[in-house]
Parts: sequence; structure tokens; C-alpha cells
Amino acid sequence: MLSRAIPSSGEKLPVIGLGTYAVFDVDPAGESPLAPVLSEFVKLGGRAVDSSPMYGRAEQVVGDLSSTLKLRDSLFLATKVWTRGKEAGVQSMERSFARMQTKRIDLMQVHNLVDVQTHLASLREWKEQGRIRYIGITHYNSSSYPEIERLLRSERLDFLQINYSLGEREAEQRVLPLAQERGVAVLINRPFGAGDLFAQIRGKPLPDFARECDCTSWAQFMLKWIVAHPAVTCAIPATSKLHHLRDNMRAGVGRLPDPAMRRRMAEVI
Ligand SMILES: NC(=O)c1ccc[n+]([C@@H]2O[C@H](COP(=O)([O-])OP(=O)(O)OC[C@H]3O[C@@H](n4cnc5c(N)ncnc54)[C@H](OP(=O)(O)O)[C@@H]3O)[C@@H](O)[C@H]2O)c1
Repeated sequence: MLSRAIPSSGEKLPVIGLGTYAVFDVDPAGESPLAPVLSEFVKLGGRAVDSSPMYGRAEQVVGDLSSTLKLRDSLFLATKVWTRGKEAGVQSMERSFARMQTKRIDLMQVHNLVDVQTHLASLREWKEQGRIRYIGITHYNSSSYPEIERLLRSERLDFLQINYSLGEREAEQRVLPLAQERGVAVLINRPFGAGDLFAQIRGKPLPDFARECDCTSWAQFMLKWIVAHPAVTCAIPATSKLHHLRDNMRAGVGRLPDPAMRRRMAEVI
């Protein structure tokens, strides 16, 4: 698995991670089809798992599985704070620690920039205390980019999480170059446009030239296009299915497209 350095520390992160929105919101007491997904994710070299208190039972499911499968030390756990007010934010983060069953969360992000200045102050305090290792902000829509650019310029952030895919390319105009310039690691959400991109390519054969960057599926085509961008640290596709997980993880292996091939790939979708 290819990896990229987190600019603020130099720590390496594998380029393919795992999202948990919707797909990990399942009954934690039930027999989980997600256990093999998370084990295989680690076996294939994955580390970054992204969740949020907004994702229903997902944080709890990640916590239960990482405890039962004894995977905590192999994972880079990212979650979020998504509420208003300092005290509510602190309580929300305490609940995330309990649900994820960990003493330290690797990355705490302000979800969708909600009450961002208030929470960034708390995140800094918790980072100093060693309870969280990195701090960041997230959004999923280009309407947030002016505010994101302002925060990238005015705050010291370790991570930005943003949407970027062959269907949503606006981030490459200013946000990705600015993150790179400011030394901020970038997680990419909605790498398949929340799955919509698969509807666009249904029935279409993978172009022959995809083999030149070791793509054997459309999922790898979409993910390799993303992680080949020099500002990107890690893409976090969500899946509940073992065969999709294996498919996605292969995007982190082998050759990546160069800028000319990325342009060709973008013309296809
Ligand atoms: N504001 C924010 O902070 C924010 C917003 C959006 C997302 N996120 C994060 O980013 C993660 C990813 O975004 P997302 O979940 O919205 O969308 P996504 O990863 O672009 O797409 C997920 C969808 O693609 C399907 N899929 C995955 N791998 C596949 C494959 N190889 N072949 C065919 N289908 C495949 C999944 O279904 P199957 O289960 O059937 O595989 C799922 O329906 C989220 O889970 C979340 O952690 C954060």
C-alpha cells in the first residue's frame, strides 16, 4: 500500500482509508458482516477509519470491532465534533472516546465547520493534553470552500477533509493547492460521489489505457485518479462489502496516473 506523509509530523498514512457513513450504522449487538471488512482492511495495509457522532451507531461499531478484533493499535481513528457550544462539544468528544473505546483519538475534526472557532480552541487544548494527536476540519460541499480557504490561511490545522472526485472537481481549483502550500494533510470524502459515480459508468467497459496505471476496475480508476493528486494524503471510500473493500484497497497498490493520464481519465467521466 502506498503511503503519504502527514505534513505536520512526517508520520506516514496509507493512501486508502475507510469511511463509515451509513455503512457502519448497524446494530452493534448483531452478528456483524463488518468484522471481516475491518480485519481485511488492516490485513491489506489500511489504517485510517473515519467516523462521526452524526453517523448513528458507526462510532460504537468501530469501537466494538476494533476491541473484539484487537485492531486498535493498527488503526488511525478519525472522528468529529458536530454540535454547538464549548461544553456540548466537550461532552460529544467524551462520548466519542467511550464509543470508540480508546484513550487517544488520532484525529478529531470539526464536522461541517459547525461552531468551528469554539471547537478548534477545545481541540487545541485536548491535543496539548495528548488525548488527540491531530486536529482538523471537514466539509462535503463546495459552498464551504470560501470559509475553508479562510481557515486554512488563519488557523494551524493538521488535516482538512473535503469532497473530491471525478464527479466533484472544484477542490482542485484553490482548496487543494492551498492545503498543500499550508502543509495540511488532506482526507478525501465522497470519492465515489456517495456511490453516484457508479451509476454513470454502469454498462461501460473500463478503458484499455487504465491498465497503464494498474487499474482493473472502475473503483480503482476513480480512487487512483484522486490519490495521484499531490495534495491528497488519503481517500476514505465507505463500504460494507468485503469484495468492494478488496477492490478499493487495490487502488493503493502499483502505478498511479501521471498528470497527462489524469486528464485522460477525467475526460472519460
Ligand atoms: N462532512 C463530512 O465530514 C463528510 C461528508 C461525507 C462523507 N464523509 C466521510 O467520507 C466517507 C466516504 O464518503 P461517502 O460514504 O459519502 O461516499 P463514497 O465513499 O463516495 O461512496 C460510498 C458508496 O459507494 C459504494 N461502494 C464502495 N466501494 C465500492 C466498489 N468498489 N464498487 C461499487 N460500489 C462501491 C458503497 O456501497 P457498498 O457498501 O455496497 O460498497 C457506498 O454506497 C464517509 O463514509 C464518511 O466517513 C464525511
